Amino acid sequence: MDFILYEVNGAVGTITINREKALNALNSQVLEELDATLDAVDLDAVRCLILTGAGAKSFVAGADIGEMSTLTKAEGEAFGKKGNDVFRKLETFPIPVIAAVNGFALGGGCELAMSCDIRICAENAVFGQPEVGLGITPGFGGTQRLARLVGAGMAKQMIYTARNIKADEAFRIGLVNAVYPAEELMAQAEKMAGGIAKNAPIAVRNCKKAINEGLDVDMDKAIVIEEKLFGDCFETEDQKYGMAFFLDKNKEKVKEPFKNC
Ligand code: CAA
Repeated sequence: MDFILYEVNGAVGTITINREKALNALNSQVLEELDATLDAVDLDAVRCLILTGAGAKSFVAGADIGEMSTLTKAEGEAFGKKGNDVFRKLETFPIPVIAAVNGFALGGGCELAMSCDIRICAENAVFGQPEVGLGITPGFGGTQRLARLVGAGMAKQMIYTARNIKADEAFRIGLVNAVYPAEELMAQAEKMAGGIAKNAPIAVRNCKKAINEGLDVDMDKAIVIEEKLFGDCFETEDQKYGMAFFLDKNKEKVKEPFKNC
């Protein structure tokens, strides 16, 4: 891999987009390597992922403008599909993914962060969809995910004006869950990922699936999705250990109930 770093620490995997000279901009190779990295995650060992960018300045400064500058209509559409396919893989990845946004998250970078389950950022983070200033629409899901996350009115304002917003505004509109001093960001992401990884892994996966799939359908169908995934938890090691832990009068016997689930 030239542009992706992947490290595992306990049950937490950290993927770093590592193309610092171009502020981690996404060219085809970065997208392909990200795709291959996700395929290689050992889902028996890893329970939560963190996604971040190399260096102190940028998470991802967008899709690679140099690569896009000469594309035909058909190639543009294919490039959009390449990004969308990887981002959808991330969004529907079986385990949670936390975006630790450590600087610019513009265009494809904002879209990448929005494909993650949870976004936290550093105080120097900048979010935006500057595409209309380049003569294109957002192409890796921005028109769809931004509207779903912050509402159509705010998404349209950000996209039509191409105005970037700082971390405090991203927090105010609900685009990120928390803002930290830059030097604390990774520790906070690791703390959150560790907390998720401690919980019942099958239940956590089923929660992700229920929330994602439920949001795509009406409430009558959504609650049926939940019922099925709720039911699927029963008879699992997770459920047996989790409930035994609660009911056990002598709790020190099962200090880490989900360690071996
Ligand atoms: N594509 C390709 N290269 C990029 C890039 C991008 N999106 N963003 C930054 N770079 C490169 C710059 O060309 C520069 O390379 P050189 O040193 O070889 O000249 C290097 O990264 C450093 O960038 P700057 O010198 O511009 O750094 P800066 O601090 O002055 O500005 C910035 C930082 C405001 C993020 C600025 O780089 C910028 O505006 N970048 C482009 C942001 C953007 O428009 N992103 C959206 C792309 S379109 C998209 O993503 C479509 C989609 O939805 C799929």
